[in-house]
Amino acid sequence: MFENYIFENQDESLEQIEIRILRSLKLKGEILADLGGGYGRLSSIINNDFDKVYLVDYSKANLTKFQKMKKGKSTCAIRADFTKPLFKNNSIDVIISFRTVHHYDNPVFIKEWINYLKPGGRLLFNIDNLMNITIIYDIIKNKDKFEIPPSRMKYCLVDNGLRICFHNEKLIYKLLKEEIENKKITVETINYGLMHRRKLENFIETRFNKFYNSYIISETEKRILTPFYNFILFHITKIK
Ligand SMILES: C[S@@+](CC[C@H](N)C(=O)[O-])C[C@H]1O[C@@H](n2cnc3c(N)ncnc32)[C@H](O)[C@@H]1O
Repeated sequence: MFENYIFENQDESLEQIEIRILRSLKLKGEILADLGGGYGRLSSIINNDFDKVYLVDYSKANLTKFQKMKKGKSTCAIRADFTKPLFKNNSIDVIISFRTVHHYDNPVFIKEWINYLKPGGRLLFNIDNLMNITIIYDIIKNKDKFEIPPSRMKYCLVDNGLRICFHNEKLIYKLLKEEIENKKITVETINYGLMHRRKLENFIETRFNKFYNSYIISETEKRILTPFYNFILFHITKIK
């Protein structure tokens, strides 16, 4: 499905936040793996802190773009499916995977990613906040067409037609429950992105004034007036 998918970053400021977080975590070691790394947008920022970098993606188009832009000699591009076995256990220092996990209903493969890590190794991946702006716009836009069932809060066709699952932090904790309880890992979460409350307030206000004098703000919309960030980043460390 991703064969010819080119990921274009549309939001510079969001990218700057991601870069700032990556730099602040001072990730380094022998081997870095960027899973679903696209054209290496983020691994290229930190690749100098590693001896070897594996950029794994199954989009041919993205890997071609990477070859054209290639910076640094340490990165090896691999066309592979990250949900399938990739590396030996205990072999990777740092794994990053940004904006990928949200394409999967049940991302059980992150347990395997933890197995790839060396003791002390770190895994970083993000999920969309359940209230990400894209789904909210979609809900509001489609409001007249159909009644939106609560399940629609979970799934939505956005991002160039790719299906995005809006996970809840709890799902990830449930998946990692055993590893956390057995003290195999520690987990830290970071909420990051743009704060959307103001934008949404404006949007709803505009709609109210121009088109819908009697527009009633729904429960969903009331809930989304609570400030939120786009993404939740999971920072996992494998205990030595
Ligand atoms: C939104 S892009 C993000 C790219 C990159 N991580 C970034 O932040 O710039 C998602 C990427 O994940 C890749 N991808 C999704 N599922 C994959 C899988 N099972 N195996 C390998 N790559 C995958 C897609 O091809 C795409 O390049």
